[in-house]
Amino acid sequence: MKLLYEGKAKQLFEVENEQEIYVHYKNSATAFNGVKKEEFEKKGVLNNTISALIFEHLEKNGVRTHFIRKVNDTDQICQKVTIIPLEVITRNLVAGSMAKKYGLEEGKKLSQPVFELSYKNDELGDPLINDDHAIALDIVTQEELAEIKQQTHRINTVLKDLFLQAGLVLVDFKIEFGKTHTGDIILADEISPDTCRLWEVNTGEKLDKDRFRRDLGSVMEAYEEVLGRLEHAKS
Ligand code: TMP
Repeated sequence: MKLLYEGKAKQLFEVENEQEIYVHYKNSATAFNGVKKEEFEKKGVLNNTISALIFEHLEKNGVRTHFIRKVNDTDQICQKVTIIPLEVITRNLVAGSMAKKYGLEEGKKLSQPVFELSYKNDELGDPLINDDHAIALDIVTQEELAEIKQQTHRINTVLKDLFLQAGLVLVDFKIEFGKTHTGDIILADEISPDTCRLWEVNTGEKLDKDRFRRDLGSVMEAYEEVLGRLEHAKS
C-alpha cells in the first residue's frame, strides 16, 4: 500500500476506494512536540481498539465520525477527509497547560466546560488561537466553527457519560475534524488515552498519556485498564 502520510502516532495508507484511507496505529509515544519519544509494545493495538470502540459508541449516539471498520488489531479503515488544521480541546476540569498557564491547581472544577482551539502546526508547537483568528485566517468559516462547537459539545456529553460508566473522569480531551468530499464536517483522527486525560473516579489515578509525559510508569497498564473498563461498561 502507498503511504500517504506519517504522523507521530499513525500512518495513513491509500486504498483502492478513493473515499477511504487505511489507518495504522503505531507503537510510538511522543510528548512535548516529539521531543520525548518511546516505543511501547501493544500501544498500537490498544489505541486502535479504544479509538474504534469510542467512534462506534459516538456513531450510535448520533455523532458522525470518519471511522468505518477495524481491519485487524492495529489498523482501521476510515473515510478520507481533509483535516481542518485545528486541535479542538475541551476541558471539564483544570489540568495540564491550563493549570500551568493560569497558576491553578489540577482538578479544580470549572463552572462550565472550556473550549479551546490550537492551530495544528508542529513547527509552531500548535499555538493557542481564538475564534477570530480561526475565521480571519480562513481556517474555518463562522458557520463551520459553530458546527464544530456544537458537535464538540455533543461529543463531550456522550464521552463524559461513557467514561463515567467505566469509572473514569473525562478531565479534558483533544479532537480533530475533517471535511468530506461533499463538504460535511465530521469527527476524524483518534480518541484514545493519548488524546484524553482520564482519572480513576475514586482514587484520581491518572490513566492516560500523562503517565508517559510525567514519567509516572505503567503507561501501557493504564491504557489496558481503560480498555478493560470501556469494554465492561459497554457490555
Ligand atoms: P494540555 O493541557 O496539554 O493543553 O492538553 C489538553 C488535552 O489535549 C489533553 O487531554 C491532552 C490533549 N493533547 C493532545 O491530544 N495532543 C497534544 O499535542 C497536546 C498538547 C494535548
